[in-house]
Amino acid sequence: MRIDVLSLFPDMYTGVLEQSILKKAAESEAFSCHITNFRDYADNKHQRVDDYTYGGGAGMLLMPQPIFDAVEAVQKTSEAKPRVIMMTPQGTPYNQNYAEDLAKEEHLIFLCGHYEGFDERIRESIVTDEISIGDYVLTGGELASMVVIDSVVRLLPGVLGNEVSADTDSFSNGLLEHPQYTRPADFRGMKVPDVLLSGNHKLIEEWRHKESLRRTLLRRPDLLESRVLSDKEKEWLKE
Ligand code: ADE
Repeated sequence: MRIDVLSLFPDMYTGVLEQSILKKAAESEAFSCHITNFRDYADNKHQRVDDYTYGGGAGMLLMPQPIFDAVEAVQKTSEAKPRVIMMTPQGTPYNQNYAEDLAKEEHLIFLCGHYEGFDERIRESIVTDEISIGDYVLTGGELASMVVIDSVVRLLPGVLGNEVSADTDSFSNGLLEHPQYTRPADFRGMKVPDVLLSGNHKLIEEWRHKESLRRTLLRRPDLLESRVLSDKEKEWLKE
């Protein structure tokens, strides 16, 4: 996967992309990330990228020209038809299903504003997705785009050493993850549930599934509203 980020603060990405799993993913060529400062595309003498709002009002808006030109320059280098993702608190709430959908793409372009809003014509003409990572306002889209990039890249084939771990994540089956334990079996009198020491894989799977369901019901009942429950799950919920 190729990822392009258009931002006025490219340095914000340096540390994040050069650590841990994202670093290894880039080294193994599972993805490559290219950061463009769209100020470089401003066609005016002072490289301005923002201007006052028509009709008055506080704050500045990002102008269409540098962003259109920067996006078009990136699109020209791509054989895929990349989705153009605007990071904004007004966007579609981000979740694991959205991450899985983006992970199927060959090329993504992220558009990050800072402080200011975007001229509406950017939304109307070049943006395919508007994403919000939560109901709060950040100083810019950069951190939000990093959240999305991290969650997408870890789903790409070969990125997580053990592919099973993405399959058993919280949300991957619509439920939160079940509790997990490592050694010792008894720590200060707190014991690991017997079933996990039983060696009976069928019972262990059933226990995990039940605990996932229980935890989801307690912590995130909203997730169950949009999930079709199996007959077994319905029975467990009655217990
Ligand atoms: N930019 C500022 N706040 C944001 C949010 N919550 N999600 C996505 N982009 C943002």
